[in-house]
Amino acid sequence: MEISKDILYVGVNDHRVDLFEGQYAVPNGMAYNSYLIRDGKTAVMDTVDKSFTHEWLDNLEKALEGRKPDYLVVQHMEPDHSANIVAFMRNYPDAVVVASAKAFAMMEHFYGKDYADRRLVVGEGDTLALGRHTLTFYTAPMVHWPEVLVTYDSADKVLFSADAFGKFGALDVEEDWACEARRYYFGIVGKYGAQVQALLKKASALDIQTVCPLHGPVLRETLGEVLRLYDLWSSYGVESEGVMIAYTSVYGNTKKAVEQLADKLKAKGCPKVVVTDLARDDMAEAVEDAFRYGRLVLATTTYNADIFPPMKEFIHHLTERNFQNRTVAFIENGSWAPLAAKTMKGMLEGCKNLTFAENTVRILSALNAESSEKLEALAEELCMDYLARQDSTANKNDLGALNNIGYGLYVLTSSDGKRDNGMIVNTVSQVASSPNLIAVCINKQNYSHHVVKQTGIMNICCLTVDAPFSLFRNFGFQSGRNTDKFAGTEILRSDNGLPFLGQYSNAFLSLQVEQYVDVGSHGMFLCRVREARVLSDRETMSYTYYHANVKPKPETKGKKGYVCKICGYVYEGEELPEDFVCPLCKHGAADFEPIK
Ligand code: FEO
Repeated sequence: MEISKDILYVGVNDHRVDLFEGQYAVPNGMAYNSYLIRDGKTAVMDTVDKSFTHEWLDNLEKALEGRKPDYLVVQHMEPDHSANIVAFMRNYPDAVVVASAKAFAMMEHFYGKDYADRRLVVGEGDTLALGRHTLTFYTAPMVHWPEVLVTYDSADKVLFSADAFGKFGALDVEEDWACEARRYYFGIVGKYGAQVQALLKKASALDIQTVCPLHGPVLRETLGEVLRLYDLWSSYGVESEGVMIAYTSVYGNTKKAVEQLADKLKAKGCPKVVVTDLARDDMAEAVEDAFRYGRLVLATTTYNADIFPPMKEFIHHLTERNFQNRTVAFIENGSWAPLAAKTMKGMLEGCKNLTFAENTVRILSALNAESSEKLEALAEELCMDYLARQDSTANKNDLGALNNIGYGLYVLTSSDGKRDNGMIVNTVSQVASSPNLIAVCINKQNYSHHVVKQTGIMNICCLTVDAPFSLFRNFGFQSGRNTDKFAGTEILRSDNGLPFLGQYSNAFLSLQVEQYVDVGSHGMFLCRVREARVLSDRETMSYTYYHANVKPKPETKGKKGYVCKICGYVYEGEELPEDFVCPLCKHGAADFEPIK
């Protein structure tokens, strides 16, 4: 096979191998690629597996057309590529081995030879001139071993990529590249995403038109897609939408739950549901799918006060490959002391950026009404976005969407002439830049609304993430009509005479009202900026941050009723009146939720 006028394929196909690397099933065999570059000097790129010594040497001899090779470039020392170094060197006594220093140390360990008098040690950026072709070497540690080099030929714009971009499968079998390349990638180099990213960065600086890997086909036309997938896989991104369910089942009850979940997911519009029986299906395929999809359901039984062994092995494969950036849900089965969900979650605890589903399904031996209901809730949770995307299943009146608007938090200061006042607002927005116009909305029930409407001035202090809850209690949960919110504090004043906060605030704006708009529950003040000062570079507190980190959890234990989502005020009673207004933060009934 001709790669270019000067570069020939001299590799072999292996249909006898049962398990590649002693563990991966390869129903379509395996290719061990090797290439010959013919120029003023000749260079052979890697050897092949030990079972193919003579076939490979024959291929080489034929391609050499009577010439002798000058160099054997050893990019990778794993025996599927290095097994014939000794045979080659014996056959061609004038040839020189070109490899990294680490590769020569491995050569000594594997084959008892490091060719001290017939070798050329190369490293990052070193070159080897063959004539028209000049080879440049780049280190690619841990893609897949530490000694690996890749080689760039600038004449024909070819990257010899060692194991990178390889796949399972012999070259005389037609099959999709991505499917077996993905299984190969996550099985063999999945752990080393950062190192693959480093190699991709080096490759991006080169003009590459052809990639010659050590396994799988030579890549040309599909190179853009191949590079896109490698970038995605090595950065642990989600490739395909859908849910993967990996399970084990002893007597079929966990399997039944998995099948029901799969049906429910499909019915709710999940674009793809992949179900894998970890005790029977190919483990490498299961690992590949876990990294392919963004949502993973793990279903297994409690076994010897642990979990069923194939599930344990599967999770171990995931964690050692830096499983991350995904949503994980659990289904556990147990007849007397179920603890599989806890065990599985514990095994995944060190993984980065995993979201665990709120609904965990517990099966006590076999599905019953309660666990079936939980299964439905889990399907609903996993398909929330799929349901919302479809016209027929979407809730088009979900005002929860309003809570997803991003806000900051501010102390608005004013003065009624007798007393300084301050309140908490989140509705502050710059609405024009020429001139700079700021819109501030204030609930009409707040005393500050009355004051600002009369005086036409206010200060907006931007709160920082270190502001304590006591500050919110002071400015937000009492009225300035009858409370001096600045009592006992040293007051700093801006040019308009109003207070500003010197602590827990990274900037303030002194505003003068230009226009007032009645917008229902609130009044909107459109204001010009009269003074603006930056006080620190600390991060501004967002409404989301406040809820997650500052606001204490409301005391609802043993109480029946409703809790204010804004400030945590608890309303005790069977029914919340529709026109109820929170006495603390002045938010309406829509911002209350039932105590669970
Ligand atoms: Fe194809 Fe890492 O050997």
